[in-house]
Amino acid sequence: MADLTALTRQALEEVARSTDLAALEETRVRWLGKKGTLTERLKSLGALSAAERPAAGALINEAKERLQAAIEARRETLGREEIERRLGAGRIDVTLPGRGEELGGLHPVTKARLRIETLFRRAGFDVASGPEIEDDFHNFGALNFTPDHPARAMHDTFYFPDGRLLRTHTSPVQIRALRERGAPLAVIAPGRVYRCDSDMTHSPMFHQLEGLAVGENINFANMKAVLHGFLQAFFERDLAMRLRPSFFPFTEPSAEVDMSCVFCDGKGCRTCKHTGWLEISGCGMVHPNVLRASGVDPERYTGYAFGAGIDRLAMLRYGVNDLRLFFENDLRFLRQFGSFGA
Ligand code: DAH
Repeated sequence: MADLTALTRQALEEVARSTDLAALEETRVRWLGKKGTLTERLKSLGALSAAERPAAGALINEAKERLQAAIEARRETLGREEIERRLGAGRIDVTLPGRGEELGGLHPVTKARLRIETLFRRAGFDVASGPEIEDDFHNFGALNFTPDHPARAMHDTFYFPDGRLLRTHTSPVQIRALRERGAPLAVIAPGRVYRCDSDMTHSPMFHQLEGLAVGENINFANMKAVLHGFLQAFFERDLAMRLRPSFFPFTEPSAEVDMSCVFCDGKGCRTCKHTGWLEISGCGMVHPNVLRASGVDPERYTGYAFGAGIDRLAMLRYGVNDLRLFFENDLRFLRQFGSFGA
């Protein structure tokens, strides 16, 4: 045991001389590892006599513990130095703006929809929705399209093999809302609709806004006032509005809604094809057959309905002349609407 003091001093010096964590670990293994110098010493205790063994063992263990404590302390110092060194080398300027902070914005069609919802909510309408995959009953049958009705052919319908279809208009939500909530009710239903059609003014997927108000004394004049009020609020200006007789299977009487052209104020321009008017919506009084199919008594209740194109409303509000721009996801186009306002 005579050299144990010298050995311990040597080990402690080596610890102090280890200048990084890797070197320190090597020192530890050299002295305390499985084949380390102090470990070998402990193993050799067996060669001593039973009388000598306890005292010698105690000394070696004491040396081992001192060394372990020294290594631990050194490790902590080296670790702290390492952090200081790294912080000093790559200085971080916390005042620099972060990268990729660009804000996204809402799509113009979404903006138009949210604006529409806000305006109608203010007028007492709820926002309803229905599935985009519909059945014949909701999309046609309950809306008073008989099986051989020619108006069915006007909708170029996408059918699934099982007979279901992609809804061709938002009108089926009228049926669903009435069947679920009953009368009286006032709802709008904005949503995607699908028709097999594609050119400058038609996209196979587009957006419609359905409106429905059913109650005990709902009349044509109520409809006219609500639609006129909505258009003026949506475009934030005075507008003329007119109704032309039309036909839809689910309304009687039916009308087409025109508003004075927002680009020329009714004087005539390219957008309104020099008529001064823009066709903006279909509307009418809900057909008794539709009320009946929805479980509402047509003797007691009347209602009006309307259906307008949201994309068209967005085009007119934001001055976009090609519908396809909305669905190409060209960032140069979309960035022009890059905010969350309406
Ligand atoms: N569903 C019609 C279409 O897609 C639009 C429409 C017209 C809806 C008149 C209505 C309405 O609710 O009353 O062409």
